[in-house]
Amino acid sequence: MSMLPDLEGYFRRFVPPRDQFLKGLEEEAVFERIPIVGPVVAELLALLVVAMGAKQVLELGTATGYSAIYLGRALALTGGRLLTLERDPVMAARAEANLIRAGVADRVEVRTGDALRVLPELGGPFDFIFLDIDKEGYLPALPHCHRLLRPGGLLVADNVGFAAAADFNRELFLSPQWRSVPLLCLLPQHSPERDGLAFAIKVA
Ligand SMILES: C[S@@+](CC[C@H](N)C(=O)[O-])C[C@H]1O[C@@H](n2cnc3c(N)ncnc32)[C@H](O)[C@@H]1O
Repeated sequence: MSMLPDLEGYFRRFVPPRDQFLKGLEEEAVFERIPIVGPVVAELLALLVVAMGAKQVLELGTATGYSAIYLGRALALTGGRLLTLERDPVMAARAEANLIRAGVADRVEVRTGDALRVLPELGGPFDFIFLDIDKEGYLPALPHCHRLLRPGGLLVADNVGFAAAADFNRELFLSPQWRSVPLLCLLPQHSPERDGLAFAIKVA
């Protein structure tokens, strides 16, 4: 059975369309080397939110608000809200401005602070959590994600191909508390890393 040649290039033709504002954020991220997810993963996050009918979503790692805009627009369809945590106050301010320009500021709250300090103060339940902070923070964030997710809630973690995510991966993929799947990603415009995503549902 033959494969299409240059699969990544081939699928690049089918990258979901988006508006000039989002394209501008992508260009800015390349220029400033800000590791945002690209339009394929962002659209995947939005699809998952809509498919689940998620209403309460938590994001760890906002950067300029690119993925938060996708999540916020998906939540406009479900009538939900996003809380997104960002450690860097300059980034958080940029994200807030971008969320206003994207028309989703009314359903997205950017909270400035280290997620590992903010998480213990949060109450759930959340339907969906997107984990995208420094990879060293993934393992310590995991028990909080578990506590904050409702049963059957979905955790998506980006960049699980980083060496620093190895302990997190072991915990997530081997724990009976989670039903999970690791996905190697070579998606067009995934993110600068083009590595892996983890999907896990809280089952116990
Ligand atoms: C990969 S970027 C997030 C990209 C964003 N999710 C997107 O795709 O548009 C990671 C962001 O998380 C922030 N960050 C890293 N570790 C953090 C932590 N422990 N708590 C809060 N924010 C953190 C960084 O400052 C950076 O802006």
